Amino acid sequence: MPPESIRVPSPALPANLEEAIRALKREKGAVLLAHYYQESEVQDLADVVGDSLQLARAAQKIECERIVFCGVHFMAETAAILNPGIPVIVPDMKAGCSLADGCPADEFKAFVAAHPGAKVLTYINASAAVKAMSDLICTSSNAVKMVEHFKGEKLIFAPDRHLARWVARETGRNDLIVWPGACIVHEQFSAKGLAKLKLAHPDAEVLAHPECEQAVLDQADFIASTTGIIERAVAFPDRPAIIATEDGVFHAIQKRVPDKELYQAPGLDESCACNRCPYMRLNTLEKLYLCLVNDGPRVTVPEELAKQARIPIEKMLALS
Ligand code: 13P
Ligand code: SF4
Repeated sequence: MPPESIRVPSPALPANLEEAIRALKREKGAVLLAHYYQESEVQDLADVVGDSLQLARAAQKIECERIVFCGVHFMAETAAILNPGIPVIVPDMKAGCSLADGCPADEFKAFVAAHPGAKVLTYINASAAVKAMSDLICTSSNAVKMVEHFKGEKLIFAPDRHLARWVARETGRNDLIVWPGACIVHEQFSAKGLAKLKLAHPDAEVLAHPECEQAVLDQADFIASTTGIIERAVAFPDRPAIIATEDGVFHAIQKRVPDKELYQAPGLDESCACNRCPYMRLNTLEKLYLCLVNDGPRVTVPEELAKQARIPIEKMLALS
């Protein structure tokens, strides 16, 4: 790193960042894809906002000069794999994911080798290297269907043990071989706090993401991906809802049903915003502006790895 005295200053930020980002997007032929866990001002600038399946679908079909991905690394990597001709840039390379980080490729390789004959179904929240070792990919919105694809076959499910347990219950598959990873955000919801909140709002419907702990899911009326949760909330505008997922989804719900009563499921530590994804929230407006100015950082996947990883992702998109 250069000494402090000769460090190159970052360009001055424009007063109206939103306007500057819109202008740069036009000028650079960039399409902005954003996940529902992004800050509301990032979602409002996006060309497509979606859950991980919708964003993968959008990335596969997009024609533009560059994709700007506001989400986490594995999502941008998936976009780069599905659409190798288009550069994918991100506001912050450090936006990872505890599920992807908790499943290193070398350890996963040994895990797969320890279960000869098993097929491998991997949640999209995984690295390209882990995807490349998989027979099929799934997201939270199609996991049940993708497990059913392997009827009668020995099956590894990775890397989220909570999603695996939920999907096993839904499909009656009690024999899944599970990689024991977890999401540090969804594990933070408190079953006890949720029970208390339900008592205070007995008419509220509890909408939860399947990455939550079983004691939280046991209290849910509806379990689905982020898009599933949003659509359910919008479908019943007069019914209060308690939401057990990252609170980025509130923005999409409030835009469509502004008068709906919404409550965030409480975290284990009520003094922190632990149910905000620390990785997703690394993408600020400032960093989004700078990545458009600098045309980077860029997420790349070596060609041979991308070729291997593309097979199970495209198979999922064809099946779902
Ligand atoms: P979705 O598939 O619902 O978008 O979930 C992605 C995710 O990372 C949840 O934590
Ligand atoms: Fe990963 Fe959890 Fe953040 Fe989703 S919420 S990106 S699973 S750490």
